[in-house]
Amino acid sequence: MATRRVFPSPFRAFASSNRAFTPPSMPLALASVARVFAVASGKGGVGKSTTCVNLACALAALGHRVGLLDADVFGPSVPTLMHLRGAPAIDARGQMLPLENHGIRCQSMGFLMPDGGAAVWRGPMVSGALTKMINETRWGEIDVLMIDMPPGTGDAQISISQKIPLTGAVIVSTPQEVALADARRGIDMYGKVNTAIVGVVENMAYYLERDGTKAYVFGEGGARRTAKERGVPFLGEVPLDTRIRAQSDEGVPIVVADWDGAVARIYRGMAEQLISSTKPFERVE
Ligand SMILES: Nc1ncnc2c1ncn2[C@@H]1O[C@H](COP(=O)(O)OP(=O)(O)OP(=O)(O)O)[C@@H](O)[C@H]1O
Ligand SMILES: [Mg+2]
Repeated sequence: MATRRVFPSPFRAFASSNRAFTPPSMPLALASVARVFAVASGKGGVGKSTTCVNLACALAALGHRVGLLDADVFGPSVPTLMHLRGAPAIDARGQMLPLENHGIRCQSMGFLMPDGGAAVWRGPMVSGALTKMINETRWGEIDVLMIDMPPGTGDAQISISQKIPLTGAVIVSTPQEVALADARRGIDMYGKVNTAIVGVVENMAYYLERDGTKAYVFGEGGARRTAKERGVPFLGEVPLDTRIRAQSDEGVPIVVADWDGAVARIYRGMAEQLISSTKPFERVE
């Protein structure tokens, strides 16, 4: 009988080693960046990309110069959410120019694949693609880099932590137990790579009925409790709202489409917390 070889995930191998994790230095291409936030969750489909893009837009509206890196090389969402298509222009030095919309400079595998389709790659190729997107993009002067992470706690997460110093991770979860279990795994993983959790976002927390009452479709307050139990900050609740989905599909995030609305106010509050609760990196010269 053939023996099945079990390849340990790089994260497990990393976590079980006794070496302390040393964060990388800031890549030169991102020399001006004062803060880097990875928006993550163990589970897929909980709203990481939606949260990341809306937080990026809120930060931009608050006056920060924002870059957005789509680290989901298998299922990039940034082209759709930011209404951007096509390949980046290349400058005389061979650097890619980020695509820009809503005042945010974006880089995504979706711009680099001919049909915007998904890549079918192994770990080292993913890592190589991330390196290229980080180092070979002319990000220019930006203050905050938001990273839209793929689901899971594997190769891409470790790879990013080894390439860019993170100010912290934002963990997105819906209130159900299945999502919360993955959120806990996400929180623990970032702990192992010495990355602070800047906060947990409870997405699709409730549905607002016509009469203004909140219907807790997926259960009440699970992410808030998880944050408390793990001793990390809670950033807030985002409702399950058709307009959030519709605006995402249109490529005009709700924060841009309705800056004065209740949902934008929630994202704005979270964006302010991201800045006020963290310290900037010293600038790399
Ligand atoms: N608060 C919300 N209200 C309504 N729809 C939402 C909300 N948050 C996200 N969605 C919708 O849920 C779907 C999944 O969201 P999104 O793509 O942001 O999740 P994700 O965690 O990034 O997924 P993946 O793991 O595939 O990267 C999208 O159709 C999005 O528009
Ligand atoms: Mg996503």
